Amino acid sequence: MMAVMTRWWAVAVWFAAASAALASGSLSAQDGDALGQVTYERWCAGCHGLDGTGDGPGAGYMLPRPRDFTQALYQIRTTASGDLPTDDDILAIIDRGMPGTTMPGWEALLSNDEREALVQYLKTFSRFFSADEIPQPLEFSRATRSNADVLAEGERLFREVADCAACHGDGGRGDGESSPALVDDGDFPIPAADLTENWLFNGGGEAEDIYRRLLTGLDGTPMPSLADVITAGVITDEQLWAIAHYVRSLSPDNPPGITEVVRGVLFEDAPLPSSVDDEAWDEIEGAYLPLAGQIIVMPRWFHPRVDGVWVQAAHDGETVAVRVSWSDPNNSPDPEWADWKSQVIALMQPKEGDPPDEGPTPDQLVVQFPMQMPEGMERPFFLRGDNRRPVYIWQWQSDRDGALEGEARGIGTEAFLSGGQDLTVDASHADGQWQVMFTRPLVTEDENDLDFVIGEAIPMALFAWDGDNGESGTRGAVSSWYFLFLEEATPATVFVAPALAMILTAALGFLVVGRAQKRERQSGKIKSETPNS
Ligand code: HEC
Ligand code: HEC
Repeated sequence: MMAVMTRWWAVAVWFAAASAALASGSLSAQDGDALGQVTYERWCAGCHGLDGTGDGPGAGYMLPRPRDFTQALYQIRTTASGDLPTDDDILAIIDRGMPGTTMPGWEALLSNDEREALVQYLKTFSRFFSADEIPQPLEFSRATRSNADVLAEGERLFREVADCAACHGDGGRGDGESSPALVDDGDFPIPAADLTENWLFNGGGEAEDIYRRLLTGLDGTPMPSLADVITAGVITDEQLWAIAHYVRSLSPDNPPGITEVVRGVLFEDAPLPSSVDDEAWDEIEGAYLPLAGQIIVMPRWFHPRVDGVWVQAAHDGETVAVRVSWSDPNNSPDPEWADWKSQVIALMQPKEGDPPDEGPTPDQLVVQFPMQMPEGMERPFFLRGDNRRPVYIWQWQSDRDGALEGEARGIGTEAFLSGGQDLTVDASHADGQWQVMFTRPLVTEDENDLDFVIGEAIPMALFAWDGDNGESGTRGAVSSWYFLFLEEATPATVFVAPALAMILTAALGFLVVGRAQKRERQSGKIKSETPNS
């Protein structure tokens, strides 16, 4: 309550003393500000706008939108909910950026002086900051130890007491019943964070970070602060730590490393997993492949729901099985998400002539391979190939039984083969996650099917769509090329190493697409007999 009052109080003072505030604002605008202003206009205004209102030229294609600094709403603070951030808070976010959003980190790019000047300059956009009132950080207790009992207690509180599951869902993937209706203070739809991907938390993914966010809240978003609940004695500080430890435990111990190769484990004696939830999958290591919005072909898509997929693979010398798992809060199309969908489309396709909402659309997954095993490092264009180098694809969608095999020579040219389908699929949606398992004989009669070769790096790319996030056609998430490597009976390491050495290192986020684009431009120039490594 105190927090809300602080803000109104500040507004009242601002009204009463607008001219005085203006005067003192210009007084402080001295040398430091000149550096702050120059740095801001060069690096920040493109997103945050020259006047700090968050409407720079790039802003219309971003969700969350760049922050409007005139409102002085800061998510990542050490201060109480509703209070202004400290200078150190603002500096820390400028340094680190906000993972999971377009806000970059600047520590490596800008000098100390520049970043400190930026802190002061940002504050001049808002009259809420004053030299007389210095925001005070909260006192945070020291982390408790985590163990199985603590995690069980954390899970109970998460689900039953602190109401986290209402937004984040029982499994933490952002599929709680309130999630389709969540909006931020600017009235923009905002997803409840996927708590199984802590490397994308805005304010850091360790238990300490989570504990702080729970105490301070994320101002400007629906994510509440638990400070009042603690003051009221509903939960103790120790229990808050239990929740933080539990949330931390939902993500892997380390953020997934950058992998180029999905290993197809050889099942020599045991049968291959027979269904999508076969326990045999639990024994197979998954590779995390980051996805990014498709921004090469029009209409582009800057707001993909699926930011990465986990891929597992196995084979028994005759059949290959591939399981793809990814977070998606619902099984599209779902009427509960219809509003969300039309809002996202309206916000992300603001130009005239952009395609309208097509009505209900399903979730989809495409796994893509070259039509034939390539020679050397030569690969088709990652967006569905071209005439010279077509691709072979598996396509699954949530509103249809079975999967299709097809081929394509460029995006939009997908043709699905009728009859003689060698591909089977099993899919399930639970707790905000899709899992889709494909199986196919390694070799088929069909000459348009890729024959999977054991012991070689088979190029593979993935594409995912969340229908209720407004995704269909070219509007979806894409990966660049990765490799599927079906293990041989002899230890395969000997063969993997040289292949790995040739493979380029993939980058996350937009870099995936940027690089693929560049690679394609280069390979376009190089004659086909030259491997374009
Ligand atoms: C590519 C776009 C982009 C650029 C460039 C950019 N920002 Fe941001 N920034 C964002 C977005 C988007 C958000 C809001 C993220 C959210 O709400 O989760 C944001 C949020 C912020 C916040 C709010 C942090 C908080 O705790 O809520 C600060 C401070 C900030 N940016 C400072 C800067 C500064 C300083 C620069 C220039 C050095 C800069 N930004 C450049 C996109 C950008
Ligand atoms: C009313 C809905 C709602 C409830 C209830 C809620 N959250 Fe959130 N939470 C959100 C939203 C929305 C975000 C995303 C904010 C953003 O993207 O800036 C979020 C983000 C988070 C994050 C990521 C923080 C970061 O740094 O990005 C964590 C961790 C989290 N919530 C944990 C919890 C826990 C634990 C609880 C229960 C104590 C909880 N949330 C209750 C809506 C909610």
